[in-house]
Amino acid sequence: MQFAHRLEPLQSNVFADMDRAKGLARAAGQQIIDLSMGSSDLPVSSHIINAIAQSLSDPTTHGYLLFNGTQAFRQAVANWYEQRFGIPVDPETEVLPLIGSQEGTAHLPLAILNPGDYALLLDPGYPSHAGGVYLASGLIYPMPLRAENKFLPDLTEIPGQVLNKARMMVLSYPHNPTTAIAPLEFFQTAVEFCLQHNIVLVHDFPYVDLVFTGVAPSIFQADRDKQTSIEFFTLSKSYNMGGFRIGYAIGNAKLITALKQVKATVDFNQYLGILNGAIAALTGPQTGVSQSTAIFRQRRDAFLNALHHHGWNLPSPPATMYVWFPLPSKWCDRSIEFCTNLVIKTGIAASPGAGFGKHGEGYVRFALVQPPSVLEQAAHQISEFLKTQ
Ligand SMILES: Cc1ncc(COP(=O)(O)O)c(C=O)c1O
Repeated sequence: MQFAHRLEPLQSNVFADMDRAKGLARAAGQQIIDLSMGSSDLPVSSHIINAIAQSLSDPTTHGYLLFNGTQAFRQAVANWYEQRFGIPVDPETEVLPLIGSQEGTAHLPLAILNPGDYALLLDPGYPSHAGGVYLASGLIYPMPLRAENKFLPDLTEIPGQVLNKARMMVLSYPHNPTTAIAPLEFFQTAVEFCLQHNIVLVHDFPYVDLVFTGVAPSIFQADRDKQTSIEFFTLSKSYNMGGFRIGYAIGNAKLITALKQVKATVDFNQYLGILNGAIAALTGPQTGVSQSTAIFRQRRDAFLNALHHHGWNLPSPPATMYVWFPLPSKWCDRSIEFCTNLVIKTGIAASPGAGFGKHGEGYVRFALVQPPSVLEQAAHQISEFLKTQ
């Protein structure tokens, strides 16, 4: 059998390797404390579940849902965004439901790139951003994120020959995995840069609500007329609905149409009942969102305090559900080996920084998806493990 060349870069997947290491640890009798995935363990609010349950018993929800979902969903998204950021959104032309932000961000390159065109991606960054570019036979220019530059890319570093063929830039702040927030001034610079070079600006914004310190801006605060930008949102994080697979894009009407055209070939949208759950989430009480944020803040503090107690002093993440842990120099080019050994010897599963790109090497990401007492125990075991190395 012969397969397309575009599959080749997708064949090695650090996270699949880590899954195998987890399996080995489990088989060897380790109790796994899984901090490797940003899949929230918190409950979905009952008013959301009820909306989905009611839809399930309504046969009119059981058919195909073509094109861009329901007017009620698009209106709920437009209202939510306008209330939140004070910028109007046209529900008819500027909103598109998605089967999660990952689906949308991975499909968008098919609408923008011709083979050999460049996408400018954050490195480290969310793996499906790169995966979507590979599927579209595009080229990736990784923009390095360095701690000394507050994990923001330096746009002046991008070479002219890359810029000539660059068609899209993907940003995502608050940032997975570094937890950095981008200030509005950076977004303003990025928008100007993209307009100047005729580049589509994509902003993946799943952690819009998981902010502890400071403010996380929307890209449209820097591109109010939506001249070149599209922003991706999800209900996976704010509403703990990862398994329900529901998100949406807001953006420039031409970009929304282009993405809709790709999706019309690939899928028939998310189930209407799930869309109804999302409407309940966006229009109903937001106490669940603030409670989840408070819980992730508490977990962050518990984990960091416990690490501090064992002699590891880390800066406090301003946002997201992660801790981006810089490895001691001995491990600085071996994050995969570190994570494999850690899970086999202690049962603690984490994500190696190298899995997020070359510039993620030397770091490990811990997802705070366990209660504080478990995170404190994990911090203890991690520091004991480091002592023995
Ligand atoms: C940056 C980023 N984008 C997208 C996703 C996936 O979101 P969804 O569940 O909506 O596909 C995640 C999940 O961790 C993420 O961190």
